[in-house]
Amino acid sequence: MITGHFPIARFETLETPFYYYDMEVLSDTLRAVNTERSVVECSNAPFNVHYAIKACSTPAVLQMIAQAGLGADCVSGGEVKAAIEAGFAAEKIVFAGVAKSDKEIRYALEQGIFCFNVESMEELEVISSLASEMGVRARVCLRINPDINAHTYDKITTGLSENKFGIPMRFLNQAVELCYRLPEIDFLGLHFHIGSQITDMEPFIHLAHRINELVAQVEQMTCTDHEGKAVHPVVRHINIGGGLGILYEHPNHFPIPDFKSYFDTWRTHLQLRADQQAHCELGRSIVAQCGNLVTRVLYIKKGENKQFAIVDAGMNDLIRPAMYGAFHRVENISHPDKEEQLYDIVGPVCESSDVFVENYHIAAVQRGDLLVMRSAGAYGETMASQYNLRRLPGHVIS
Ligand code: LLP
Repeated sequence: MITGHFPIARFETLETPFYYYDMEVLSDTLRAVNTERSVVECSNAPFNVHYAIKACSTPAVLQMIAQAGLGADCVSGGEVKAAIEAGFAAEKIVFAGVAKSDKEIRYALEQGIFCFNVESMEELEVISSLASEMGVRARVCLRINPDINAHTYDKITTGLSENKFGIPMRFLNQAVELCYRLPEIDFLGLHFHIGSQITDMEPFIHLAHRINELVAQVEQMTCTDHEGKAVHPVVRHINIGGGLGILYEHPNHFPIPDFKSYFDTWRTHLQLRADQQAHCELGRSIVAQCGNLVTRVLYIKKGENKQFAIVDAGMNDLIRPAMYGAFHRVENISHPDKEEQLYDIVGPVCESSDVFVENYHIAAVQRGDLLVMRSAGAYGETMASQYNLRRLPGHVIS
């Protein structure tokens, strides 16, 4: 069995479970994203990549991403704070979320972030009144729900009209008019996000075409500003959201996501003028493959028909298999060359869904072996909890 490269001697001295981030993989990934992004920029307007902090907010990871020049996409005041502390420039921070609190909005305004991705007209009014109290202006993009099916897991689709996210397309013109009527609001453009773990480019092509239509629709409008003057809206910024998927089955062979196809798709299908800028918000594709959950085998238990490898990591440490039925490859790094056997690999939490993989072939394990759950850098550590009063997994950096 081929495994990734892991410092096993160092792991042996550490309390398991923990997340291990391979900074070389992260740095290779960042190099790839910057290279492919710049190819688009050569033939088009600027293409800004914002890293979606919700995927992984471990400080060393954030710092490396900030140093690579990416911006940050945040969904809470806590994420805006983490971004600033990690060295992301405020003018590269965007802030989305359906329920931004007054405190979070004030904090983001104080920091002078680039833009709020606004999810309702009600929110627009609140941002405007808080900005007015503070004597500042707020830059906004309107998050529009484009009603496009990303054909990914049900629980991570966001761009369908039945989802809670974004402003429905039929209110787009009204929302743009409101932006111009509110004196503290600067309308920058439109924002979209249709879902996550998208590996087929088709949904992105649909989205690009929908965006082209909606940009044209907005730019045909005539609005009245707060002084009663007629204005023609211009969409200067187009944020296409995140969602590029990774290959969970092949972390060793394809550690770098297909950024080339992703940026090629946008270059081909999104109409961008020289006075416009594109933005995207990639999370999973930047960090998934650099992170691994390291766990130790506690017991091998024979069931009636099954063999269980019971490990010291649980669904509280990595909830993706239990929550989405997601697959993470598991490798035995203590004895990678033993003959394979069939196991259900399960955790200690008192829930029958605390199962990582079922009927899974892995090099025969024994008590004390170290296993790694691969491709766990995105939505792994950030979604960990203390359920069953377990300690949070924590992390180790390469
Ligand atoms: N922008 C917005 C507005 C988002 O809601 C998200 C993710 C992203 C960007 C980043 O998407 P990415 O490039 O990572 O696909 N916990 C789930 C994924 C939830 C994604 C939520 N939104 C999982 O473990 O699969």
